[in-house]
Parts: sequence; C-alpha cells; structure tokens
Amino acid sequence: MNKVYLLFAVAGVLLGQQSWAAEVTKKPSSCVENLNQEITPQMKRARDLYIALTGSPIPFCDERIERMTIYLAAGRARDAVRVAIADPDFYNIKIREMASRICTFENSPRTSVNDCIATYVGAIRDGIDARQLLTGNFWYRIDEKKAPQATASNLVNNILKNGNHYNQIDDLELSMFHVLKRVDGQMIIDPTNNNNAIAAQDPAGVITSRAWMMAHAIAGTNRRLVEKSFEQFLCSPIREWADNTMPDTYVGRDVTRTPGDDPNKYLVTCKGCHAPMDSMRSVFAHVDWNENNGGFYRYNPTQVTPKMNRNTNETPQLTYLISGDTFDNYATQGANAARFGWRGPTQGEGMKAFAGMLANSEQYNRCLTTHVFRTVCGRKPEAELKQIIDTYARDFDQKDNHDVRVLFERIALRPECTGDGNQ
Ligand code: HEC
Repeated sequence: MNKVYLLFAVAGVLLGQQSWAAEVTKKPSSCVENLNQEITPQMKRARDLYIALTGSPIPFCDERIERMTIYLAAGRARDAVRVAIADPDFYNIKIREMASRICTFENSPRTSVNDCIATYVGAIRDGIDARQLLTGNFWYRIDEKKAPQATASNLVNNILKNGNHYNQIDDLELSMFHVLKRVDGQMIIDPTNNNNAIAAQDPAGVITSRAWMMAHAIAGTNRRLVEKSFEQFLCSPIREWADNTMPDTYVGRDVTRTPGDDPNKYLVTCKGCHAPMDSMRSVFAHVDWNENNGGFYRYNPTQVTPKMNRNTNETPQLTYLISGDTFDNYATQGANAARFGWRGPTQGEGMKAFAGMLANSEQYNRCLTTHVFRTVCGRKPEAELKQIIDTYARDFDQKDNHDVRVLFERIALRPECTGDGNQ
C-alpha cells in the first residue's frame, strides 16, 4: 500500500513538473467523442461560441463544452462565453489576430509576434483599461521565470534592436497567456550611444513600440504615423477625414502648392489630406527609425528629425518650419466633429498628448468594437450594424471599464455574429 502511494507520489511529482513545463506551451484537447451521443442545440451553440472566441477546434466531449452547454441550458449565456474567454487560446489566437491587424503595416491577421502584439495580448489578459494601450508607459515581454527556455532576453541586443526576443514565442511554441509579463517604464536606445538603453521620453503605449515605429517611421516624413494612427485606432482611412476647407497653416513645405502648375489641384486635393494630417505630424518631430543593427526606434529630444523639414525648396515663398512637437488637430470641423467625437483638448504637445486625444475620443471605442466584431464574427460589420456597434461602444466606454474582454463576451453573443443568438 505504502509502496503504491510512494509510486503515485513520485509519478505525481514528475507529472506535476512535466505539466508545469507543458503549461507554457500548447496542448491539444484529449477526450474520446461518443459518436452515438445526441447533439443538442445548446451543445452545438456552445461549440460554435468556443470556436469563434478561441479559433481552435474542440470535440463535444471536452469538459469546457460540457460546462458551456450547462450554462446555456440554464440561460446563463454570459457565463458560457466566459469559459471560452478564460481559455489561453482566446488570447494566444484571437487577441493575437486582432492585435496583428492593428500592429502591422499590411493589417495582416497572421504575423510574427512583436512588442506591439505582445502588449495588446498582455494588457487585455490583465484587464487593463483599453485607453492605456495608447497612453500607458508599460510593455510586455516573456517572463524568463515562466519560460526558462527563452534565452534571447537582452534588452538592447534581443528586444530593442531586433525581433529575436518575441520570435521565441512561435519558435518555442510558448503560450503568451502564460508567459507574458508586464514591465513598467518603456525603454529605448540611447540616441547618443547605440549600445545603451535609456528610459523612453514621451512614451505613448503601443505607438512608441518598436513594431509600430518600424512599420510607420521608416523613411518618409513621419506623416504615415498620423495616417496609420487614425486608420488603426480610429478606423478612419485618411480619405474619409480629408477636409479641404481647413487652413493650410501647417502643410509642410515639401508639398508643392502648384502641382502640375495647377494651384487649384492643390486646394482641392492635396490640401484636403495635408491640412489636417500635417497639423498633427509635428508630434513625431523627434522620432526617427534607424536602419542600422537590425533597426531601432530613435527619439532625440534635442533635435527635430531632418526629414520633418525636407525639400523646403518646393515652396520657397513660405517660411513655416517644424521646430517642436506641439500639435493643433485640424480634423475637428464639419463631418469630422461627429465622426471622431473628440473629448478633451485637441491641441497639445508630444506623442502622449496626441495618443490621449485619440484614446479619449468616442471613435476610439467604436473602432475597438469594430475590431472585436471582425475578430470574433469573422467579417467586418456591415453598414446596417452601425447602431449595434455604437451601442456596444457606448457601454464599453461608460459601463464596462474599457475592458476589451467584455466587448468580446457581448459581441460573440449577438445573433448577427455566431448564429442563433440569445440562447
Ligand atoms: C488622400 C490623402 C492625400 C492626398 C490627396 C495627398 N497626399 Fe501627400 N501624402 C499623404 C500621405 C498619407 C503621405 C505620407 C505617405 C507615406 O509616408 O507613406 C503623403 C506624403 C506626401 C509627401 C512626402 C513624400 C515623401 O517622400 O514622404 C509629399 C511631398 C506630398 N505628400 C505631396 C502631396 C501633393 C503635392 C499632393 C497633391 C497633388 C498630395 N500630397 C495629395 C496623403 C495625401
């Protein structure tokens, strides 16, 4: 008897250790499906919801589907979806998919993990107010204590200068849900010594992540940083918020006022985009992307990056130059007032103030709701669903503490999303 117990204890320790190690990597569901079992509507609905929220196949016999079925049969739909939301695959697959679209230049749902994606996954796992995704001074990385096999962890050489640290997530099949840890205080490469890291100045959530800067601060004139911030965080492609009635006070001198010798063309087309976009791009005055050593985000508060005032010879008659990082949002008039629903200041200084303006707008909530719908329902919300998006965005803003998981819970249960609705 004692011997048997001892055996169990030893096996338990071994298995315990093994499952601890396995915990941070993916593991399949294991149960044997009874093919003669009757599939009730609740079972089918439970499985549909689980798959929509986790992106993973699952058999009916799985304990999670059993629990969800019981909740659905008891009229407790929210409790049912919470079973799926507690699943690591909700974070590792679905939140990752949503974040990939937001964090990449091509809006691709499948891409290698980077610091921007990891920060979305970690912050949503930790229930952090979604506005802090744009304004917070924190980031997420692999916790070596949870994943000792992940050894590429040097801040300068594996994190700030290349993607090696985050590539380990796929290479070692790590579960982000289990291994990500929050780090307070963003870091950047010291602009005066490329082998050194210093505390980031003017940190602004994922906008100052390496991945975001790599996608949008490379080459160009830092206009794309504004264009893409509006496209990804406010779901507003620039053509939709262009406004040629605004003054061109801040339009860069590299933008000719006589394209093809036609001043009217400038007034009708160029100015429409450039008047509002250029009124804000100065917040990135100190930002650049350095292509050396794998590429890193560079921020130098003592310098206006030369590309901000490039090709001034296009408009020799003008004197305007960018001299600092103050901004004055010109996308506030006419249709743009209702589109964005700005709340709070639309002028300010620096990236964090700019990011705060975006995060506090009504449109930020509507846009996140749209991203959630697309991620869980597998398609963009049709125009006739605008009212639903508006309603859930308002609740997200006013009742649900800006917790993205609650949006997923509520949207997944919509009949428009995963089938027959309020079971
Ligand atoms: C639909 C909006 C839109 C219109 C209209 C538009 N632009 Fe732009 N422009 C942009 C965006 C966005 C960028 C930044 C592109 C990037 O960096 O990828 C840009 C960048 C530029 C640049 C900097 C190019 C560089 O090398 O980075 C110049 C110069 C410019 N535009 C001039 C013009 C002129 C002249 C017109 C009118 C003939 C015009 N633009 C019309 C949106 C627009």
